[in-house]
Amino acid sequence: MSRTAYVNGAYVPHRRAGVHIEDRGYQFADGVYEVWSVRHGALMDNEGHFRRLWHSLKELQIVAPMPEVSLAHILREIVRKNRVRNGLVYLQVTRGVAPRDHAFPADIAPALVITAKSMSTQKSEETAKKGVAVFSTPDERWARCDIKSVSLLPNILAKQVAKRQGGYEAWMVDAQGMVTEGSSSNAWIVTKDGVLATRSLADNILSGVTRGRVLALAAQRQLTVEERPFSIEEAQAAKEAFLTAATNFVMPIVRIDDVPVGEGMPGPLAEALRKDYLQSAVT
Ligand code: PDD
Repeated sequence: MSRTAYVNGAYVPHRRAGVHIEDRGYQFADGVYEVWSVRHGALMDNEGHFRRLWHSLKELQIVAPMPEVSLAHILREIVRKNRVRNGLVYLQVTRGVAPRDHAFPADIAPALVITAKSMSTQKSEETAKKGVAVFSTPDERWARCDIKSVSLLPNILAKQVAKRQGGYEAWMVDAQGMVTEGSSSNAWIVTKDGVLATRSLADNILSGVTRGRVLALAAQRQLTVEERPFSIEEAQAAKEAFLTAATNFVMPIVRIDDVPVGEGMPGPLAEALRKDYLQSAVT
């Protein structure tokens, strides 16, 4: 089946979809994005993704392309037109098209692109059953990682560091030797005492929608949670480790920089939270 994309007001064949060469997203990475997971044909965590989208746009002074209700309609349409049962929706808003100049014009209309793709749930489940490896790398990003900007150079370079070594994700480490987050996910450990630890949002990380959901699930399970930094050494010595993202839900981590975590197998808490998440997260 051929895919359909939404580009600036029109549904177009995915393979022919394009934007203007002076789109500021293309020239300056001057834009923001969101990624929704689709399960059983429904968008997951809609409210959280919209809240973060409005935050990113506001912080960068980019005009919202349309009201939430209209955007939500297009998101559902793109899921329907692409017949996605399980997969992802990608939305990108850039500041728009203008002659190249670092400073931006006041009256520029934002550009909007939305795409969708199907993904195999079976593959994701198989990966989660085995668990994944992560590798550490310095966090070279800017001071506004709360904004979900399409400017992702440090993130893609970090992911490449992991991929080159056969890893699944990179954990970025700050100047104090503490893990901030993954290149496209949030980072978690379960300590020897069974405490769930993940970095605080006050510390220049992305407010992961999945992270928020997992914190709520942890509260339901009456787990002790500490929102605090941890080092690679602490994570390697932890009982369990996992990552969260819309693309991965809760994904167990079994090796960090080639050191096995716990038994070197997915931990029971990560598996339980993954199950909780998949049962709870359809909006
Ligand atoms: N990334 N941290 C970073 C740096 C991310 O890029 C992401 C998501 C997350 C997790 O956020 P959420 O739970 O809302 O997906 C954390 C998306 C999936 C991506 O870039 O593809």
